[in-house]
Amino acid sequence: MIRLTIPSIEEDDLQIVRETLATGFLVQGVRVAEFEKAVASYVGVKHVIAVSNCTAALHLSLLALDVCAGDLVVVTTYSWPATANVIELCGAQPVFVDIKPDTFNIDPDRLAETLARLMATAETARRVKAIIPVHTFGQMADLAAITKIADQYGIPVIEDAACALGAKWEERQAGTWGVMGCFSFHPRKAITTGEGGAITTNNDQLARKLRALRNHGLDPDTSTPEFIMPGFNYRMTEFQAAFGSSQMMKLDRIITARRRLAHQYDSLLENDPVLGPIVPLESWPVYQSYVTLLPEEITPRRADIIRQLKVQGIETSIGTWHMPLTTYFRTRYGYEVGDFPNTDRVFTSSLTLPLYEKLEYEEQCTVMDRIREVIK
Ligand SMILES: Cc1ncc(COP(=O)(O)O)c(C=O)c1O
Repeated sequence: MIRLTIPSIEEDDLQIVRETLATGFLVQGVRVAEFEKAVASYVGVKHVIAVSNCTAALHLSLLALDVCAGDLVVVTTYSWPATANVIELCGAQPVFVDIKPDTFNIDPDRLAETLARLMATAETARRVKAIIPVHTFGQMADLAAITKIADQYGIPVIEDAACALGAKWEERQAGTWGVMGCFSFHPRKAITTGEGGAITTNNDQLARKLRALRNHGLDPDTSTPEFIMPGFNYRMTEFQAAFGSSQMMKLDRIITARRRLAHQYDSLLENDPVLGPIVPLESWPVYQSYVTLLPEEITPRRADIIRQLKVQGIETSIGTWHMPLTTYFRTRYGYEVGDFPNTDRVFTSSLTLPLYEKLEYEEQCTVMDRIREVIK
């Protein structure tokens, strides 16, 4: 089977996890602090707060901005549902903005229109608390344009950079553009800690609040326990963090391999009716996934194509989710097909191809040959 993804886990990763477990110090020790330092230095930010997963990171980011019942958070349509779920879980309402069909990222023009509409009346303007663009499949959204629009109204941007550690827009890293950036270390990302997440920020007050919120509301700056707010237990364990530090040392190597493999797919797809991903000139993606678009006329057969490829030993999947059309959001807010036409098209026709560091060129050729046969 040519798998969709295989994490790059090697002997030194296993060794550091074994060593950490053997110390008996499993939580709240030096390993988490070391991991945070490694991520902060790589991304180029003042603070990193390691948490249990990226969903927790997104949830805490909204809470740190005091997002609460009745508020509005502007968010892309096309993502893993966690991105919009956390908005609902704060009691706020997502305001969805359609994507660009070529990059799969939030469309800055649609964002500008949406904000102009919301900010035109005092009643909605006071409720808009944040904007969450997603760096879809490891390619950054156009944060130069998005932060410019957000700054016009003074609305904070939280980057959902779950898939995008190491990605850049105009030479500037994901997680440094918004007031906070949220990362995932789930096994489908370039590097992993099993489950895991992190929040990046340059803001001292937010960092302090995030540290308290992830740890039962405990003041992070006093030696005597002081509970200064209600908080969660969203902590990362020591052995996950040790694993993460070991993985961080391989990040550049893994990104280089993923880019090479993506470019090989690009060449194999030249003049093919199946379309490869589009990369704007300013963008340096890390290819968390290599997502193609099937020709429109065969999209009704996509589920069958994925099934047939599996029988032939190739694991593929859809891209990600059309959040407004998932059962919860569709039922709660009455969204329909046609409300977000670009997301409709991408959601029904995307096909993710196998991509991981050790994938061979011959295997990529086999993947493409089988896809062509099955599509015929
Ligand atoms: C864009 C995006 N945001 C958030 C998440 C949630 O991340 P986690 O699984 O670490 O909670 C994911 C997970 O894949 C994701 O792709």
